[in-house]
Amino acid sequence: ELPEEVTIKEVGPRDGLQNESREVPTEDKISWINQLSEAGYSYIEFSSFVHPKWIPQLKDAKQVASSIERKPGITYAALVPNMKGLEAALETDVDEVSVFMSASESHNKKNINKSIEETYPVLREVVQEAKGAGKTVRGYLSTVFGCPYEGNIPIEQVIDVSKHMLDMGIDELSLGDTIGVANPKQVDKSLHEIQKQLPFKDIAMHFHNTRGMALANVLVSLNHGITTFDSSLGGLGGCPYAKGASGNLATEDLVHMLHQMEVSTGIDEQKLRQAASFIQDTLNKPLASHVMQIERSR
Ligand code: HMG
Ligand code: MG
Repeated sequence: ELPEEVTIKEVGPRDGLQNESREVPTEDKISWINQLSEAGYSYIEFSSFVHPKWIPQLKDAKQVASSIERKPGITYAALVPNMKGLEAALETDVDEVSVFMSASESHNKKNINKSIEETYPVLREVVQEAKGAGKTVRGYLSTVFGCPYEGNIPIEQVIDVSKHMLDMGIDELSLGDTIGVANPKQVDKSLHEIQKQLPFKDIAMHFHNTRGMALANVLVSLNHGITTFDSSLGGLGGCPYAKGASGNLATEDLVHMLHQMEVSTGIDEQKLRQAASFIQDTLNKPLASHVMQIERSR
């Protein structure tokens, strides 16, 4: 049975823009995020406080954070990899920070330059300090359904790393299909095991749509009682440290499917299309989502 309501967490300004070769002017990011704030979201991940050499696209995180209009009722969040990132984030009064690591050793190393074991104490301190500062903390786990370097990751490994992350005190765990390889049967089996072995309610799913399977994977997740999904407007996105990780699930396609199935999201589809058109013009390339393909053919 489908839920009445689903929470959509917009990751476009972070996951979307981190993968664009074209630099988006800071003013356009601010304007875009302000448009997103008017579209009915309850959660927007606006940037990340990572090393500017690693992700130059988001080096203006601080400026973005201090310039966007904060709308009441919206959680404005940013990614932080370590204490240095957290300290910068806390200077901007973010509502929530997200820590992140991978279920696979090689992607973790490529993405944050540490082994899985070395990452635990770093993130543990970040979570503790963030909570001490009164922030909620989200934890992203990447390569849950496949790694660009190692292929399939055993579910026991996924559950083991998840347990370590939950033990740090994160408020929500977002399970990432970083390179968009998950298929619905695999999601079904994995969620069955995860929900059996992890007594944790606040699980979100983070699908990339590289092979067009994201919406099917959402449907399977809904049937497992998952009601929080990450998506990126226009289907922008990917992870620069995961080859082939193009395209997050497009928010407008997700919202369209959910509304058609009479599941509410609180999001205004017309305002969403307007915000998508804005970033499409800014990036000067056609967005990959189905909704925007239809929009362009009008
Ligand atoms: P490192 O080089 O190992 O860092 O990078 P370090 O601790 O050895 O420090 C080296 C230098 O970096 C020092 O400067 C630090 O101060 C500086 P120096 O003394 O040489 O002048 N430094 C920083 N500067 C700014 N901000 C910071 C920071 N930390 C250290 N936070 C690090 C380690 C984690 C920083 C680096 O690997 C990094 O920035 N990685 C970012 C990778 C990233 O953003 N990936 C994309 C996001 S994850 C994703 O997309 C997946 C997700 O969507 C879910 C899914 O799809 O699966 C979330
Ligand atoms: Mg991602």
